[in-house]
Amino acid sequence: MASLLRVDDLTVSFGTSAGRVKALNNVSLSIEEGEVYCVVGESGSGKSTLALSVMGLLPHNAEISDGRIMYKDIDLLRSSSEQMRDLRGQEIALVFQDAQSALNPIECIGPQLEEVILEHSDISLRNANKMAQDMLFEMGLPDPKRVMGQYPFALSGGMCQRIMMAMALVLRPKLLIADEPTSGLDVTLQAEILHRIRNLVKEQNSSVLLITHDMGVVAAMAKKVGVIYAGNVVEDADVVPLFHRSQHPYTWSLLQALPRMDDPGKRIEPLPGSPPDMVHLPMECPFLPRCFKAQSRCRTEVKPTLTETEDKHFVACYNPVVSGWND
Ligand SMILES: Nc1ncnc2c1ncn2[C@@H]1O[C@H](COP(=O)(O)OP(=O)(O)OP(=O)(O)O)[C@@H](O)[C@H]1O
Ligand SMILES: [Mg+2]
Repeated sequence: MASLLRVDDLTVSFGTSAGRVKALNNVSLSIEEGEVYCVVGESGSGKSTLALSVMGLLPHNAEISDGRIMYKDIDLLRSSSEQMRDLRGQEIALVFQDAQSALNPIECIGPQLEEVILEHSDISLRNANKMAQDMLFEMGLPDPKRVMGQYPFALSGGMCQRIMMAMALVLRPKLLIADEPTSGLDVTLQAEILHRIRNLVKEQNSSVLLITHDMGVVAAMAKKVGVIYAGNVVEDADVVPLFHRSQHPYTWSLLQALPRMDDPGKRIEPLPGSPPDMVHLPMECPFLPRCFKAQSRCRTEVKPTLTETEDKHFVACYNPVVSGWND
């Protein structure tokens, strides 16, 4: 099957006074139609940079030095800003990580939502208003008329998150990119937002690039998973083999940190150490200083590349974990 979105060798850095931050290093992944692909990794690993690269919304200090992003047969990195604007409205939508600050603070919610609709369809303001209200209601806001007359600062984080979801879903995108759509929300609202995303996939065969640092969200949502560490995809597999037979020591450690039904009293140990300095990334494997499987080869050779070890299961490691973490 042809991919809906394909990222190949994407390499992105940010210019800063401390040097170039190497946020993404030869990142590759592909998402099929009707599939939820989760990108999981620690804070600072490059997840939002990936989302913004696909959307064509990277800040000015970003440089894409290598790679390609194909949406259907459109080469996104070579598309004009008008083409990108059209795609962003009609085909690809983003739920920003920080919903409250992604909304315009000096405009009420109603006009912001109507603007999104009017910019990308030929309907009247009256119909756009009705569509906006329906969408807010669908997102679980019981009094959409009142919400539409309010400014973002007057609304809770959870309400802003629902509004961002409404904005992203109102034009029924083929591809939804959701950057930590549930972080900081209470569990009920988290479950509800994930339920809406699942509905989009089920009802419209849309695809979702879901960004999270939470393996619980991955388990609940993903068909496929890309584990990202210091701007490198270190493992890529379908969700079930990833959970049962994780191969990269980093993935294995993330899964160890999950609560266990069969051992509820187990102490959850956070992964020791910290991620590398993204300005001075080492030539060797970036996970080396934290790795319990490291051997001499890992210290002497350049970092390993993603290799297929089982059918559709890729890992970038010289000494992968072989037994399942559940064994
Ligand atoms: N505009 C910028 N200028 C300079 N450095 C940046 C910029 N945006 C991101 N970075 C750096 O790039 C790296 C990747 O950041 P990114 O926001 O993509 O991580 P993330 O995985 O989304 O983290 P989080 O889970 O905290 O949202 C980090 O080291 C970050 O500090
Ligand atoms: Mg982020």
